[in-house]
Amino acid sequence: MRSFAGRDILSLKEFERQEFFRVFEIAERLEPIARNRQNSELLKNKTLVTAFYQPSTRTRLAHEAAMHRLGGHVTGFSDAKMTRAGDFYQESIKDTVKMLEFYGDVIVMRHFQQGAPHEAAKWASVPIINGGDGWGEHPTQILTDLYTVLREKGRIDGLKWLAVGDMRMRTMHSLGYALAQFDCPITFVAPPDMGLLPEFKDELKQYSVNFKEAEHVEQAIAEADVILVEPVVQPDYTKSRDERAGKDVGLTPANYKITRELLETKAKSDAILLHSLPRMDEIPTDVDITRWSRYWQEAFNGVVMRMALLALVLGATE
Ligand code: CP
Repeated sequence: MRSFAGRDILSLKEFERQEFFRVFEIAERLEPIARNRQNSELLKNKTLVTAFYQPSTRTRLAHEAAMHRLGGHVTGFSDAKMTRAGDFYQESIKDTVKMLEFYGDVIVMRHFQQGAPHEAAKWASVPIINGGDGWGEHPTQILTDLYTVLREKGRIDGLKWLAVGDMRMRTMHSLGYALAQFDCPITFVAPPDMGLLPEFKDELKQYSVNFKEAEHVEQAIAEADVILVEPVVQPDYTKSRDERAGKDVGLTPANYKITRELLETKAKSDAILLHSLPRMDEIPTDVDITRWSRYWQEAFNGVVMRMALLALVLGATE
């Protein structure tokens, strides 16, 4: 297995099966620190730089919280408009990263351009973690989701997945690449104009992912052990910011909605429901207190997973 020390986390396409389990092992080892709301000293001499060119609640703050839990420091920006990349100069990724690498020891970047963190990694002498790039990938989110499945179900292999939402989404791409390493058949349910892109389908076939497509969640929910939902009513991820034009943003059609009634009547009793959040109306709030919901657990695991990744890429654990 390759060492994680000094490594960029850009894509799950690059992950080997044993590397997933190595990350999960470290996450499990560090989890008590977060569960007990303690801070440790594992990364006390290290600094995380956050470079967020797009809004984020979870990804940025979970990385920052993870760094604090491990005793490290944090600096960075959450609004590129207040940097030279977002004003008159439109400073390039290269020039920006050539500065940031001296401000810390690892950089987590979210960008509206697909491939921006990869471009950053070409120039940076410190590890780059992809916090979501346009429609590209969101590797740390899917690592969080797989870790949640492992913790909640005790295994990953042999579980059937249902993924609902916009298949252009970066999370869906990372999920597809990740499941190539596991025995996990998956059914994708998406609106016709948000379906799997032909080139992504070709990749899934190339990576031997066992997948099929359905039109309505009702056709696939009964056999699912893991139900992963993303919005179909959502912003344009290629923009630095996509604010609502008006109050009316549309409702999620029933085909792509997981309601309490659907879970009670059609889902497996022990299935688990994941959503990386934020949500619109695709999971109504009365689902939150049902036994299927695991998205708050996912939120906690999001901190634990970033602790593991930071510890690994900074060489604090091998
Ligand atoms: N799940 C996720 O990426 O959330 P944020 O956009 O708030 O970071």
